[in-house]
Amino acid sequence: MKQWTPSGWRNFPIQQQPTYPDQNTLNLVEQNLAQMPPLVFAGEVRQLRQHFEDVTAGKAFLLQGGDCAESFAEFNATNIRDTFKVMLQMAVVLTFAAACPVVKVGRLAGQFAKPRSAGTEVIDGVELPSYRGDIINCIDFTAEARTPDPHRLVRAYNQSAATLNLLRAFAQGGLADLHQVHRWNLGFLANSSQGERYQHLADRIDEALAFMAACGISSHNTSAIRETDFYTSHEALLLNYEEALTRQDSLTGDWYDCSAHMLWIGDRTRQVEGAHVEFLRGVHNPIGIKAGPTTNTDDLITLLDTLNPANEPGRINVIVRMGAGLVEKNLPRLIQAVQKEGKQVLWSCDPMHGNTIKAGTGYKTRAFDDILAEVKHFFAAHQAEGTYAGGVHFEMTGQNVTECIGGAQAITEEGLCDRYHTHCDPRLNADQALELAFLISETLKECRQYYLNGSKTNG
Ligand code: PEP
Ligand code: CO
Repeated sequence: MKQWTPSGWRNFPIQQQPTYPDQNTLNLVEQNLAQMPPLVFAGEVRQLRQHFEDVTAGKAFLLQGGDCAESFAEFNATNIRDTFKVMLQMAVVLTFAAACPVVKVGRLAGQFAKPRSAGTEVIDGVELPSYRGDIINCIDFTAEARTPDPHRLVRAYNQSAATLNLLRAFAQGGLADLHQVHRWNLGFLANSSQGERYQHLADRIDEALAFMAACGISSHNTSAIRETDFYTSHEALLLNYEEALTRQDSLTGDWYDCSAHMLWIGDRTRQVEGAHVEFLRGVHNPIGIKAGPTTNTDDLITLLDTLNPANEPGRINVIVRMGAGLVEKNLPRLIQAVQKEGKQVLWSCDPMHGNTIKAGTGYKTRAFDDILAEVKHFFAAHQAEGTYAGGVHFEMTGQNVTECIGGAQAITEEGLCDRYHTHCDPRLNADQALELAFLISETLKECRQYYLNGSKTNG
């Protein structure tokens, strides 16, 4: 590999960064963070890479989800618990339908920095820097609030540490035990059609567990029933933070970005010659690459060569986010190029970022039907090419918000104002997320059968 250091990105052109008026404090904060314990450990990251390798080979499915942007204001145990519960529910729906292990990765414990379409925002003739996420500045529209503040990096680190602590407790301390499958249903789902459908499935899981217990397999002797693996991820956008949390593994000598298990490169910062690609090529975490409508095949192949020169399976997740209307046109050529070059790629579908619209009432929103349509086109494109549709990537929350329109609850444009809480993009609420999981589970089952039969006959 070409020479690499954690700070080498500083010599490359960089997009989407704040301008800190106080460089001195920024330097001190970076030094301070570099002394802090890592948030995740190299061994855990290697485990996730192994899971990604399984997904790449068609042996598992990736479920990635969480907030568009975490915030300091909405940080509390209930929000974390409820998002975790909905992810468990979605995972169990997918696992049950498709008889396929689901790898769970949260957009959590570090998803703070946001790329923006414009550097400044104008309201009533006043122009201020755009809000770039709580790790950088504050969403309030005042000059003071919008000034990038280095101390926010430390606060984001501390919040991430506390979030991870809770997630580890949930994953391993009893809440994720399959015997709790009924408890994952959130109170407000009890009377919804998704909630009922879920209870029905939970009853069947209970029956299966009782049968297995009679055969001697229970949570006492089987950790896979008692606990789960839950990984964290975020966009590696604010490289000052990512560099400060990068550590050399004492076992292997390899570098890991220990701010999360997985990092991804956003659609706006994936320039082959840019700082973000330079930074991420040197860390050994699994890396996501967002692929949008303007991603061409040459760029994608060059990115794969740069970020994964040894073509190792489990290293790269291409996260396709075209918009429902563009998948059919754009995705086949990307898949064909990757196949032709023999590149190892875990393909997943982000049906959120290509489907953002502005409602008449001014709210940024997304239509449930567009989200579902993009997922369906994604699966269909892979089926047509004989490749494996490996996962989904959602912006979602366990809260009962009204940010996306449609779904069985039939949220209308007028209804958006009821509970619109997101700090950035509109999220699926718990009911919509669960509904989507049920709808996708049918497609996943069909496509897996098709893929597995196809690869058997081919191989
Ligand atoms: C995001 O995932 O929140 C995001 C900004 O995505 P993209 O880079 O695909 O626009
Ligand atoms: Co977003």
